[in-house]
Amino acid sequence: MSPLTTIAVRAARAAGDFLLRTGERLHELRIEMKGPNDFVSDADREAERRIVDIIRRAYPDHAILGEEGGAQGEVASHGARWIIDPLDGTTNYLHGLPWYSVSIALEIKDRLEIGVVYDPGRNELFVAERGKGARLNDRRLRASGQAKLAGAVIGTGFPFKSHQHLDAYTETFKAVSRAGCAIRRAGSAALDLAYVAAGRFDGFWELGLQPWDMAAGMLLIREAGGVVTDIRGGDRAMKTGNVVGGTLRVHQALLDTIKPHLGADLPA
Ligand code: IPD
Ligand code: CA
Ligand code: CA
Repeated sequence: MSPLTTIAVRAARAAGDFLLRTGERLHELRIEMKGPNDFVSDADREAERRIVDIIRRAYPDHAILGEEGGAQGEVASHGARWIIDPLDGTTNYLHGLPWYSVSIALEIKDRLEIGVVYDPGRNELFVAERGKGARLNDRRLRASGQAKLAGAVIGTGFPFKSHQHLDAYTETFKAVSRAGCAIRRAGSAALDLAYVAAGRFDGFWELGLQPWDMAAGMLLIREAGGVVTDIRGGDRAMKTGNVVGGTLRVHQALLDTIKPHLGADLPA
């Protein structure tokens, strides 16, 4: 593990262990609404503070993009920027549902180099390093061998915060259902993508995500031999927020199935 990855893992574990402990006294948390159906708690903020502290102490000149703290520091000539979701799956977490994660990625000059997703409840640590593969704890990860949508298990997320994508999303949902997939909506996009890397899901799609929801999970999928792109097949998923991933064949089949149902207003 590179020194950078060691820091990413230390930060993810610190935040995840804090979330796990705090999950035992949820009723004490202050919860605010950031927007319709979009909640943030003291736990999200404190988890991010702990992550940023660890990164800052090790790499004071690196830029940071955190969901709660926004953009911090200039991207210097080395081009390093950390992309952090301290608690992915806040709605689940605040309801005591055990499906949530910490997501930390490092990009250098716009290229993803490290991706870490940590599920503290199951003590599962997913780590990807560009060119070096992906691991779950001590086990090497491979995407599944699934070749068709029929019989595949596909993760997804509903556009529950911004309803602008609801019509397009509903059409894609019908099309994927008709293709004979089992569809799961678990509630943490970062963990869903990590599950594609682990071969637990054969594919995943969602509209309207943010960079911190997907940066680490995208690298995990690629390093596990899967494919992940924008929903129209391009390489700008981190910009458009519309993502599709899976095994080589399931990814293509999902694109073919979904694309005809996207409205013209979705950016390419
Ligand atoms: C959310 C989760 C959810 C996805 C939403 C995200 P948050 O992140 O990843 O699965 O459907 O689009 O915003 O708010 O819990 O960090
Ligand atoms: Ca998130
Ligand atoms: Ca979050």
